[in-house]
Amino acid sequence: MCGIIGYLGYRKAMPILLEGLFAQEYRGYDSAGVAVLEDGTLRVEHSVGKIALLEQKIGDNIGEGVIGIGHTRWATHGRPTEDNCHPHTDCHGNIAVVHNGIIENYLELREWLQNQGHTFTSQTDTEVLPHLLEELYQTDLYQAMSDAVARLRGAYACVAVSSFDPRRLVAARKDSPLVIGVGEGEYFLASDIAALIRYTRNVIILENGDIAVVDDHGIKITNQGQPVQRKMVYVDWDKEAAEKAGFPHFMLKEIHEQPAVMAKTMRGRISDDLEQVLLPEMDAAFSDEFLKGVNKLVIVACGTSYHAGLVAKQSIERLLRLPVEVDIASEYRYRKPLVDEHALVVVVSQSGETADTLAALRESQYNGAKVIAICNVMDSSIAREADCVLYTWAGVEIAVASTKAYVTQLMLLYMLTFYLGQRLQILSGDYLHHLLQELDELPDKIAAQLPTIEETTREWAEYIKDYDDAFFIGRGLDHSVALEGALKLKEISYIHAEAYAAGELKHGTIALIEPGIPVIALATQQFLLEKSISNIVELKARDAHIFGIAFEQTQSMAKVTDGCIYLPQTDDLLAPIITVVPLQLLAYYAADYRGCEIDQPRNLAKSVTVE
Ligand code: M6R
Repeated sequence: MCGIIGYLGYRKAMPILLEGLFAQEYRGYDSAGVAVLEDGTLRVEHSVGKIALLEQKIGDNIGEGVIGIGHTRWATHGRPTEDNCHPHTDCHGNIAVVHNGIIENYLELREWLQNQGHTFTSQTDTEVLPHLLEELYQTDLYQAMSDAVARLRGAYACVAVSSFDPRRLVAARKDSPLVIGVGEGEYFLASDIAALIRYTRNVIILENGDIAVVDDHGIKITNQGQPVQRKMVYVDWDKEAAEKAGFPHFMLKEIHEQPAVMAKTMRGRISDDLEQVLLPEMDAAFSDEFLKGVNKLVIVACGTSYHAGLVAKQSIERLLRLPVEVDIASEYRYRKPLVDEHALVVVVSQSGETADTLAALRESQYNGAKVIAICNVMDSSIAREADCVLYTWAGVEIAVASTKAYVTQLMLLYMLTFYLGQRLQILSGDYLHHLLQELDELPDKIAAQLPTIEETTREWAEYIKDYDDAFFIGRGLDHSVALEGALKLKEISYIHAEAYAAGELKHGTIALIEPGIPVIALATQQFLLEKSISNIVELKARDAHIFGIAFEQTQSMAKVTDGCIYLPQTDDLLAPIITVVPLQLLAYYAADYRGCEIDQPRNLAKSVTVE
């Protein structure tokens, strides 16, 4: 994933472009560049590495130009070198383009353009765009863009600026997000609203196939050659949402936001008397007849969102006795999944732009299944294409490591489960009331316990930071959360971590247990407690260092662990929402002790919009 910014107006463009790039740095940060029109000529600056290096390179020389484009890159085609940085230009430096996505037929286009005499200087797929525009340009950049995108296969959000058309930006979108911010006499283009809310809250979200022209006459949008109107939406995010609010890292800020966003995700979705789940989106999308005919649920997602799906499988099967398959989107899309009109598919994605999850959604619909999307980003590609969307309302999640999005995904998956139980008349009123009451109380319980959990996990992290390996174990729902705990530790602290179903260890992995090795043992499921404790004892006998996580009533954990966090009691079924919090904090502090770049771990991007 990469980040795009464009500006046309009356202020100096350079600082606005750099700010827009900083706000989108989480989208990719292995190189960055800008192109600004100065005195009718394009000035292009590139830098490998983080945006701060580009800013340093530009220094005080911000120039006078009031129109320009910028890009922060996460390499796909071509290594992160200066030649491969965007913006890319045509042969004569008259047209500059920034692009997000992948042009699948770029090799074919490149060969054709080379035969027409164009000289390429990078290995990127993007570079075909400025050359194509140069080749097709006659008198109008918009027309050249229309003709160019007609020849592209793949996904793109792109913005072009040209010295031929000096008061104009031209943009196109297909399968990659792009928005226009509308200010007073000025316009902003960006991959992400966060890049422009500092300047305007009026935003137009471009749709697939749109080509937009922004100039001194305003905005013109066409789709398949026909003028179209796209509504302007007012974005009411506060500016604080895109900043760290006093925390050293976005990840820590986002962990602390969890009680608030959990409450927000429930707002309006649980009746005041805690008797009913209200999901009008589901009422509108699916008839009783359809829901009664559903013979299985299929949950498809990637990474942390996939782990949320694993929790949902267990809770849905336990409560509704409806079979649930959970699949990794990159596997599902190519294995000819067995879904048809009787399957209900749930895709889970924070960004709503993950390429594999989007492809899984399309594959499911192609096979006749209806798709529910659980998304955080409004109007994202997945949200738009699903038959029904349930938004998580976690707000902008900036840290690459997902935390608040995960807990809100869990909340919503639980609410969806209860909703189905209620609509299909499987859950009794009393039990539903009990579960909703427990769910409703969770945000306050977590908020109250957060300081203690944080203090203890910081101590644990000091121990773990010196190890190369760590293990996470649990049974049932605890195992699903253990997988998420191991992913968090790996992705931000670079400590190798594995999660195992506790009963499975003795089938091989226990051979890896050496004296002192840290094991994080989750034991919240009462009906599995004795079994879990036996597994912990097996590890203790081999001198593993055990950190336990259990409910406050399970004091027996003190005897078998080297330290235990006791969480506020809730229904076992809902345990994952609360047990993940110490695991997130443990990963955070381990990474902090090791001096890692927590918000932007190496080799990762916030949203993976390529296969
Ligand atoms: O935006 P999505 O939820 O579709 O993203 C899926 C994964 O890429 C994401 O959860 C990833 O695993 C995170 N880095 C985990 O912290």
